[in-house]
Amino acid sequence: MLDYYREHQEEFLEGLKAWLRIPSISTLPEHAADVRRAAEFLRDQLEAAGLSSAEIIEGNGHPLVYAEWLGAPGKPTLLLYGHYDVQPPDPLEEWKSPPFEPEIRDSNLYARGASDDKGQTWILVKAVEGLLKTRGRLPVNVRFLVEGEEESGGGHITAYVASRPPRLAADAAVICDTEMFAAGLPTICVGLRGIVYAEIDVQGAKRDLHSGLYGGAAPNPLQALAEIVCALKDREGRIHIPGFYDRVRPPSPKELEAWRRLPFDEQRYRDEELGVPDLVGEPGYSVFERTWARPTFEVHGIRGGFTGEGAKTVIPARATAKVSMRLVADQQPQEAAEQLRQAVAAVCPRGVRAEVRVLHSAGPSLVDPENPFVRAAAESLTETFGKETVFVRSGGSIPIVGVFQQHLGIPSVLMGFGLPDDNLHAPNEKFHLPNLWRGIEAVARYLEKLGQ
Ligand code: BES
Repeated sequence: MLDYYREHQEEFLEGLKAWLRIPSISTLPEHAADVRRAAEFLRDQLEAAGLSSAEIIEGNGHPLVYAEWLGAPGKPTLLLYGHYDVQPPDPLEEWKSPPFEPEIRDSNLYARGASDDKGQTWILVKAVEGLLKTRGRLPVNVRFLVEGEEESGGGHITAYVASRPPRLAADAAVICDTEMFAAGLPTICVGLRGIVYAEIDVQGAKRDLHSGLYGGAAPNPLQALAEIVCALKDREGRIHIPGFYDRVRPPSPKELEAWRRLPFDEQRYRDEELGVPDLVGEPGYSVFERTWARPTFEVHGIRGGFTGEGAKTVIPARATAKVSMRLVADQQPQEAAEQLRQAVAAVCPRGVRAEVRVLHSAGPSLVDPENPFVRAAAESLTETFGKETVFVRSGGSIPIVGVFQQHLGIPSVLMGFGLPDDNLHAPNEKFHLPNLWRGIEAVARYLEKLGQ
């Protein structure tokens, strides 16, 4: 089997590149046809890999891709999840090679989606293909379910999973969509944050105004928006949304102790990984606590007024901020959204109206590191990388993890092969190719272990 992987490296790589060339940006409506093309591409790949029932599942939103191999009665069934959609590639001018023209430099494959998540989904596809092509069978049963709306918070897969179709019956989900803590250090993620993504709309006068004629009497929605944002999070990083922290469950002393043992150099993180003079965040909490176990409030963009070249003296009639709150166990998205609404109403300056519109949300998730499916994954990673597997959490969100837990009652095994410098959601996203090959090997070992 390992020979098969070695002999087909070139072909695997060409296949991945072809997939990466499809700009499947789920949040941009003008790319809907590309998103579908990426789904069809994957369906064809799964069929060619030897899986049955490879098909597109239509619904409200971008399509899902399903395929199965159920020829191992009495053995466990795994639900293999990934996403074939990607984030928008902007700012384009910062890419060294164009985002949808994959290029290899220094053992890294550069393209939007290389790591998040086409490259990592490819690991699951190719591990299964290798086993099927060399042995004609798998050690366990598998069902692929791959979505095209993960990056845009779409609800298609949630609605589908919540309807509990019999074909999703499984013992555990396996997801390659997270990072290794450091290069060469095998990692399992056992906690993800949830999210509430919203827009805050501020409306001032009924039309744009001359800032000289009206400035001093007319409310300015951009100023108001800035005041709202600053009232919601202070300079120390504390969030002032009443009730927001009430449900936050602190990590156990054992987990905190394990985090203290991780190889981490805060100065290097600050200077090299981020390139900032200072880190920010709530006083009294470590970087891991702040990014993994504490909730956040962030602004992603502010729109309004004049932002072109040159000068224009205007008081805009309207301004909008895109914001999100990352949530940790046991916060609840709907409750947090309501708390945000009330907080915005309470701090909205006079003279303007503010409105909160939630675009999407997802709950946080925790996975039990003692779960046998997680333990077996850790062993497979350790055997592949020759190092003890570490357990971490991540500050990112993978909405489906909570959905699988809630509706299918199954844990998700998060074995990720991305690296901290993969530039997720940023220009020059890359995937470290040695991790592609080792990822395939680790997943194949894992399936074998579970079949024994
Ligand atoms: N793969 C990421 C999340 C991730 C990255 C988890 C690294 C752990 C380590 C995922 O594709 C992602 O970016 N999700 C979005 C989800 C959101 C839009 C609902 C996120 O976290 O912003």
